[in-house]
Amino acid sequence: MTPIPANSIFYPLLDQSALHNGLMQPCEVEISPVLTIQILMIQQHDQVHLIENKCGHFGVKLHTGKITPNSITCSVHGFCFDLHTGQPLNREWENCDPIKVFQAYWQADSVGIAVVDNAPLEKNRLETPTQPE
Ligand code: FES
Repeated sequence: MTPIPANSIFYPLLDQSALHNGLMQPCEVEISPVLTIQILMIQQHDQVHLIENKCGHFGVKLHTGKITPNSITCSVHGFCFDLHTGQPLNREWENCDPIKVFQAYWQADSVGIAVVDNAPLEKNRLETPTQPE
């Protein structure tokens, strides 16, 4: 369990008692009066995934998509995204952005996100590998 960073604000999304494998729960978090974030909570193999509920292709909600092991496939055009990294896994010849993957935190009986400077902490900020010269 990852500790909540001291400089962040915890936003609960769901009571832990509602968690179960196969869960696919759309959640909405109002970070500020002008910023609401759509999150999709997925539990698979006893692991909770929090992803942005917005396809990286044309931005439709992903909660109508199909869960496959460690990925979700958008119901509209079939782009598939890795639940751990948010990266598109198929159709590499077409333009598609990765989806955001948020770090899940637990506080009391709730699972939620931690927000710093109006931005939920993401777990898929990938480092660009440096090339040896
Ligand atoms: S809108 Fe999701 S794959 Fe096109």
